[in-house]
Amino acid sequence: MTSKRVYIETYGCQMNVADSEIVGGILNERGFVITPTPDDADVLLVNTCAIRDNAEVRIYGRLGLFSTYKKSHPGVVVGVLGCMAERIRKDLLEEDVVDLVVGPDEYRTLPALIGRAMGGEKGIAVRLSRVENYGDIVPLRTDGVCAWISVMRGCDKFCSFCVVPFTRGRERSRTLESVVEEVTNLSVRGFREVTLLGQNVNSYHDGRNDFAELMRAVARVDRSMRVRFTTSHPQDMSDRLIEAIASEENLCPSIHLPVQSGSDRILALMERTYTVDHYRRLVEKVRQAIPGAGLSTDIISGFPSETEAEHRMTVDLVRELRFDGAYTFKYSPREKTKAWELPDDVPEEEKGRRVWEVTELQHTISLELNAALVGSTARILVEGPSRKSKHDFTGRTAGNKTVVFPRRDEQPGDELDVRIERATSATLLGVRAADPIRPASPSIKESAA
Ligand code: 5AD
Ligand code: SF4
Repeated sequence: MTSKRVYIETYGCQMNVADSEIVGGILNERGFVITPTPDDADVLLVNTCAIRDNAEVRIYGRLGLFSTYKKSHPGVVVGVLGCMAERIRKDLLEEDVVDLVVGPDEYRTLPALIGRAMGGEKGIAVRLSRVENYGDIVPLRTDGVCAWISVMRGCDKFCSFCVVPFTRGRERSRTLESVVEEVTNLSVRGFREVTLLGQNVNSYHDGRNDFAELMRAVARVDRSMRVRFTTSHPQDMSDRLIEAIASEENLCPSIHLPVQSGSDRILALMERTYTVDHYRRLVEKVRQAIPGAGLSTDIISGFPSETEAEHRMTVDLVRELRFDGAYTFKYSPREKTKAWELPDDVPEEEKGRRVWEVTELQHTISLELNAALVGSTARILVEGPSRKSKHDFTGRTAGNKTVVFPRRDEQPGDELDVRIERATSATLLGVRAADPIRPASPSIKESAA
């Protein structure tokens, strides 16, 4: 029998990107081949996101296209994975096009369910687990420069707007040893950067080690490898973690710290468990301990009952704290969450205006911060071709700024000093200032180990 070909399409956060690699690892182990395009695939899997309604609308659109595809390719199996699978479950299975619905903690059942679906039997596996962390699965990654590693799953925070605790279940952490082993293997394979992932990494605990200890242990694996992490909750960000980032040279000075709102009343309604002042002091502490730290945030506009004055407080906080970047969202009511019970009373148009105002202000600030770097030299890790031109390469600074430069003979994985000549709000543009620093080849590293 020839191997069945599986195409996986991923939506949503980096957690989902990492999960798709875990799914790839599970399927590959059982003889399936993962293909990069849907053409000629026997199985189409969509790893979905349920965080806001518009994410789900997009995925329904995609399933519509898969439905057309299925008519011309009878026998193709279509599966919905991830957060939407958990949220909508049976309703999804009632869609003609969908053969499989598999939630984030049930990926080990996929080979068997796909086998049955090929025989015409629809399947669903959506139980959430208190222990599943896929620590023993080797994710299927193509060799590259940057890798995502999920170190914990789920979230116990229950922010009132957020569906994640319902779609991904309770918090659980992998052991420090299993993470260190994965990072060691990635280093041997030539990866140059790892990002440790979790919905709230600050509450990582494997029974013996907390997140600061995990970060230090990962940093020690290979000092030439950059280590990042995401995401932090302002309530749980510990001094020990800040000290670790300040003192370990290869822990990148870049922190994503979602504030969500600049109003204490709205933060309380969101059940974020901190005040604006706590957040402000935390930012001061980070900036004092880690000079030049890159800081980004998330903001939700138009949460139920948010007044114009409260929106202005968010705008003022963004102006005051001068983040390097911000992801801005219109509030989207999610079933099961506490905020679902509140009237969604900020009109859609008003939410749009507020989110636009915050986004525009942040663009101006990002541009000012980036423009101040023109004339300086930045050390970047080269990642590969830029999206816009094959003659340009792109990389990131330790503080997580994207830098684009004309390529000469640089390779992905090189470190390079670039002189910054121009800036936009999202990107620095520069030219090579010195010869690239090339890492020892993976095979040399392996034999030296
Ligand atoms: N509506 C709008 N934005 C949301 N987020 C999470 N849930 C919602 C929602 N219901 C945003 C938060 C979070 C980011 C990942 O997504 O800002 O930090
Ligand atoms: Fe959602 Fe809050 Fe958990 Fe983040 S910390 S995943 S916003 S519940």
